[in-house]
Amino acid sequence: PAPEAVQAGLLAWYDRHRRRLPWRALPGETPDPYAVWLSEIMLQQTTVAAVKPYFEAFLARWPRVADLADAPLEEVLTAWAGLGYYARARNLHACAKAVTQRHGGRFPDSETELRDLPGIGPYTAAAIAAIAFDRPATPLDGNIERVTARLFAVTEPLPGVKPKLQALAATLTPAARPGDFAQAKMDLGATVCLPRTPKCLLCPLEALCSARAAGLADQLPRKAPK
Ligand code: ADE
Ligand code: SF4
Repeated sequence: PAPEAVQAGLLAWYDRHRRRLPWRALPGETPDPYAVWLSEIMLQQTTVAAVKPYFEAFLARWPRVADLADAPLEEVLTAWAGLGYYARARNLHACAKAVTQRHGGRFPDSETELRDLPGIGPYTAAAIAAIAFDRPATPLDGNIERVTARLFAVTEPLPGVKPKLQALAATLTPAARPGDFAQAKMDLGATVCLPRTPKCLLCPLEALCSARAAGLADQLPRKAPK
């Protein structure tokens, strides 16, 4: 599909249907990179519903990244209890220290510098660059993989097709509002372009979607047999 059409359709949909999430800046507000980072780390293996109370508690207790860096590791691990994957909490604390010491308490805005920080891989670096700094980065999480595979009717299986999906997704990323565009794809994947039963009749991209045209929407993305 034409990138301009996908961008316009999805951003207009996002302006009406975006989820209200505690880490999301309101329209016209500047996002807090610390809050964006914290939410992305928490959301890596945990659902939005489970993350919400933890996110609120962390921000209330440690309002800035330097506060989190100064906290004893044991307190961070205790506050993390219940979210699982404790390596994430250790990396969280190490990253807070690195941002405080290396970058004076401000998150860097480039994907390469972000990727050099503990616990930040390619996905998280792209998500922070796009959402917190409105850089034209292209995060690819599970929701965005699915939306991308369907828009382009990509029939090769995951995980091998991931680099192709990354490249196709990058062709869609707009110069204007790339952060909203990334979050719009996340929201579309979470509320409309659902894994088993995509709601194509409610989708702002229905007329642009190759999987829909081919009758393949509910079959993509394919997964390689284990
Ligand atoms: N999942 C991962 N990152 C997210 C975000 N920023 N908004 C909603 N869902 C997400
Ligand atoms: Fe997903 Fe259907 Fe929309 Fe295509 S038309 S993006 S398959 S919900």
